[in-house]
Amino acid sequence: MVRVSSKILALVVGVLPQLIQGSGLHTAAVAKGKLYFGSATDNSELTDTAYLTQLNNTDDFGQITPGNSQKWDTIEPTQNQFSYTKGDVIANLAKANDQKLRCHTLVWHSQLPSWVSSGTWTNATLIAAMKNHITNVVTHYKGDCYAWDVVNEALNEDGSYRDSIFYQTIGPAYIPIAFAAAAAADPDVKLYYNDYNIESSGSKAMAAQNIVKLVQSYGAKIDGVGLQAHFIVGSTPSQSSQASVLSAYAALGVEIAYTELDIRMTLPSTDALLAQQKTDYTNTVAACVAEKSCIGITIWDWTDKYSWVPNTFSGQGAACPWDENYAKKPAYTGILSALGGTATTTTTSAGQSTTSSTSTTSSSGGSTTGIARWGQCGGSGWTGGTTCASGYTCTYFNDYYSQCL
Ligand SMILES: *[C@@H]1O[C@H](CO)[C@@H](O)[C@H](O)[C@H]1NC(C)=O
Ligand SMILES: *[C@@H]1O[C@H](CO)[C@@H](O)[C@H](O)[C@H]1NC(C)=O
Repeated sequence: MVRVSSKILALVVGVLPQLIQGSGLHTAAVAKGKLYFGSATDNSELTDTAYLTQLNNTDDFGQITPGNSQKWDTIEPTQNQFSYTKGDVIANLAKANDQKLRCHTLVWHSQLPSWVSSGTWTNATLIAAMKNHITNVVTHYKGDCYAWDVVNEALNEDGSYRDSIFYQTIGPAYIPIAFAAAAAADPDVKLYYNDYNIESSGSKAMAAQNIVKLVQSYGAKIDGVGLQAHFIVGSTPSQSSQASVLSAYAALGVEIAYTELDIRMTLPSTDALLAQQKTDYTNTVAACVAEKSCIGITIWDWTDKYSWVPNTFSGQGAACPWDENYAKKPAYTGILSALGGTATTTTTSAGQSTTSSTSTTSSSGGSTTGIARWGQCGGSGWTGGTTCASGYTCTYFNDYYSQCL
């Protein structure tokens, strides 16, 4: 309980309405020229009204990602029997709230039903099953998704290909084949390669760049690289090392998004760890803000209450910007300031800390003229632009796809 003198209370009460009109994370991100700031979520959490109230807060979250409900084992548990109920709940929530939806994920070695992971396959039969999955799922969610994570975590830490059932059976060609199938089902949705530990330079980040080139070399469309950014307090890459790898991806003509950001610590949480976590979040968000091709940031759920970390990394947690009681941590203020917002913390008569904020509009996020190299510039159903950036020509590949080369 905090005692507040009547004079200060009057001041706080007078000031509060004005402060509350300030911006949250999404509003600040948009003011910086980004498309969104968002959060992952999951079906079971949506029964928690306090949780849902904040997830619905579009001042903080202009985008959501289903953490699990669009994965292969959920959607196609038996071959060619599709179950969209759980995924639709999240997609419909995004629609009702006018939040963008990142769709996640089509081809991944984990959370696969056993008919896929333990099936007996030939190259041709697995390609057919994979294409059937992608075509059905992308078609079902056509128009709902801003982006699809088409292929997830195809790489080992040393940059070699992960030995998944897809790689074993099809070889690296499974990646461009998956992208081409997704593009054929929905030519408008952004198609991403998504992975972790590709947020600073090294063998794995280099291999992720090679995946972009591989897909492009097949004449298939790839629009983005998703940096999961599951970081650790105190060993998060610096802003400059993240910035240099972001520009390497951007140079390939793709956009970048931070797709699963969280920064875990060894428990218990201390003031020193929370301060370092704030620095690590700030550096990461600042790297995205500074790179024009970095279009948005998604945290892998907003509250420690529903974080995946404690279930996966024993003894670790407290990875989110809000704690398990839904109070904002120092990390929140760090993210907001990196997005150009300024937080003001006041003490209300109830003794609760209220953080509100304002943001400044940036002039640096302006639009480019013409579509960048490798970008799509035409094809059946294409509603985007048709003019390439200077030096590149819109080149016909087939009736469904033309690309700036
Ligand atoms: C959250 O948003 C959805 C969709 O707009 C709405 O139906 C629901 O009532 C909201 N729930 C809360 C707790 O705010
Ligand atoms: C499987 O078939 C595809 C498509 O024809 C081809 O690109 C790929 O190299 C084949 N993989 C193997 C291992 O033969």
